[in-house]
Amino acid sequence: MDPLQWAIDPWGKIVPIHIAWFLIWVAAIAGLLFVIVHAIYVRYFAKPRQFEPDAVPVDPAKIPARVPRHSLVARAFHWIMAASMFTLLFTAFLPRVGVQFDWVTYHWIAGAVLTASVLFHIFHASFFLDFWSIWPDKIDLRDAWRRTQRFMGKPAPPPERFAKYPLENKLYHGAIIVAGLSAIVTGVFMMSRVRTIFFPRNPYLFSDMTWGMMYVLHGLAGVGLIALIMMHVYFGLRPEKRPITKSMIFGWMSRDFYLEEHDPARWPVEVSPSPARSQAAKTEGLPDVG
Ligand code: HEM
Repeated sequence: MDPLQWAIDPWGKIVPIHIAWFLIWVAAIAGLLFVIVHAIYVRYFAKPRQFEPDAVPVDPAKIPARVPRHSLVARAFHWIMAASMFTLLFTAFLPRVGVQFDWVTYHWIAGAVLTASVLFHIFHASFFLDFWSIWPDKIDLRDAWRRTQRFMGKPAPPPERFAKYPLENKLYHGAIIVAGLSAIVTGVFMMSRVRTIFFPRNPYLFSDMTWGMMYVLHGLAGVGLIALIMMHVYFGLRPEKRPITKSMIFGWMSRDFYLEEHDPARWPVEVSPSPARSQAAKTEGLPDVG
């Protein structure tokens, strides 16, 4: 079973043209298997989570009842990206599994939205958010080792509570960067093969071999995203992760959840300077963090 489709170019050379479309099913089944195995593991085998006590004891009264987690701009980016990502997946893959429609126009428009929103996100995260919060740090690596040891029944101290993002979320973000940027960079070049509003059509920009490899990379990134997005949606719906999903809608998480999972020394509560927020906190009888 060849994972690529090949053709013969005008000079008689064999060149790749696409991935083989059965890879769509390989990715979807891999995503589904991950979900099933994880759900069974959590339901029947996983032990309750344990964390090391916080190095600096926290006074819960100093933590606001609603801990701000995602700004309005960050949430808007997330949902615009999600909408464009789903549009890209459905427009790309439905025609390959028998649902025929004129997909290319919808696809490149969603691709342009995703590209613009990702460019904005890189700028926003670099200059306005805590850029390093999404990259693994030394404590994450030490705790990953401790968690592995404990998983195998060997003696090891429990891990610390998380900073803003658990290691798993950071690794997932890394995988999305690789697959997402591969789809975006190749997709931008592929726009010159079809008619768009951005640049004149020029299918001769690259050799047939280079185009072929570009389509293959685009397709591989695309099927990789099928499995990655399935996992992401599954975790977003799991009951114990719902407070995190809710924070991507409303912007905050409860003090209880924050203190249960996060270490205020590693992720201090952001203090909002907004007077409106302070007033709202007073009206709701919450501690004023503003
Ligand atoms: C979730 C992300 C994406 C997925 C799953 C995806 C998937 C696909 C697939 C499977 C194809 C067919 C490729 C082939 O025939 O070998 C395709 C074509 C195409 N993609 Fe994407 N893509 C994504 C993102 C993007 C982005 C971000 C852009 C633009 C910036 C883009 C632009 C295009 C264009 C213009 C084509 C048509 C090329 C043609 O028909 O010649 N795609 N995409």
